Amino acid sequence: MTTPGMDARLLDAIFGRRTTNGPFKPDPVPKEVQHLLLQAAGAAPSHFNSQPWRFVLIENRGTIEQVAEISGQSMTTLIEQGLFFNRYKKYFRFTEAEMDARRDGIHLDHLPAPLRPFTQHVFSDAAQGLMRKLGVPRKLGEDNRKLVAGSPLLLAVLLDKEEYRPGELSGFYSVFGMGAAMENIWLTVGPLGLGIQFISTPMELPEQWAKLKSLLQVPPELELMAVYRLGFVPETGNRPSIDWSSRHRKRLSQYVYRETCTQPEQE
Ligand SMILES: Cc1cc2nc3c(=O)[nH]c(=O)nc-3n(C[C@H](O)[C@H](O)[C@H](O)COP(=O)(O)O)c2cc1C
Repeated sequence: MTTPGMDARLLDAIFGRRTTNGPFKPDPVPKEVQHLLLQAAGAAPSHFNSQPWRFVLIENRGTIEQVAEISGQSMTTLIEQGLFFNRYKKYFRFTEAEMDARRDGIHLDHLPAPLRPFTQHVFSDAAQGLMRKLGVPRKLGEDNRKLVAGSPLLLAVLLDKEEYRPGELSGFYSVFGMGAAMENIWLTVGPLGLGIQFISTPMELPEQWAKLKSLLQVPPELELMAVYRLGFVPETGNRPSIDWSSRHRKRLSQYVYRETCTQPEQE
């Protein structure tokens, strides 16, 4: 799909953008590339050009391993205590038909082998008890730890609290701008052969998030918003046990209206 006068590479980058779930190559990300990504982030729009985003580039092996440990432990806790499934079950789809009707969420078509017999019942208490017995929380935690530990570069994004005041418009604007900045990075990584993924499990558990803040020495005037892992994507890779990336998208008529909210756009 190209539009006259528009650089097709931009559309390729937009439609080719992906979440990278699998391992990265161990090769470091050159400093010039890191700077290019952050200049792309810095080119994003922000309210009154306030540029409220701040970033931390993390390449130190010791720090990456500590983040990995925190992330893996968080994953184990979230699965073991059923927190993850209880919080997020509404986003999981179990059949092609369900996926085709809604075209959002994550299709669970590729569960870890021990869970496959329970696909439809994976959120029940019985299935969760069995998962604990089979050691699934530890296995998923360890997989997560390894993915993070094997990443050559982590990136933390923070907001300046002078602008990020939750509950006020400035807080909303700051998050909006940060999203645009992160999208610029996300669009830039693909054409450079790099991938990016959220490290979100620690964010789900306040005590683990506090550990990350202290590890990164986040000062009181900044809010730690998110942490990502980045690296070069291998040419071939196995699909991970829970695939957080999805190609499914809603049809235009499911998210666009014409003139007022009463008229869905016709395809
Ligand atoms: C706010 C936000 C939070 C997300 N959290 C995670 C996450 O915790 N782990 C992950 O692997 N992907 C995460 N993602 C990526 C989504 O799962 C992904 O964008 C979606 O499934 C579509 O796949 P795609 O990015 O490959 O197009 C997040 C994306 C956004 C914007």
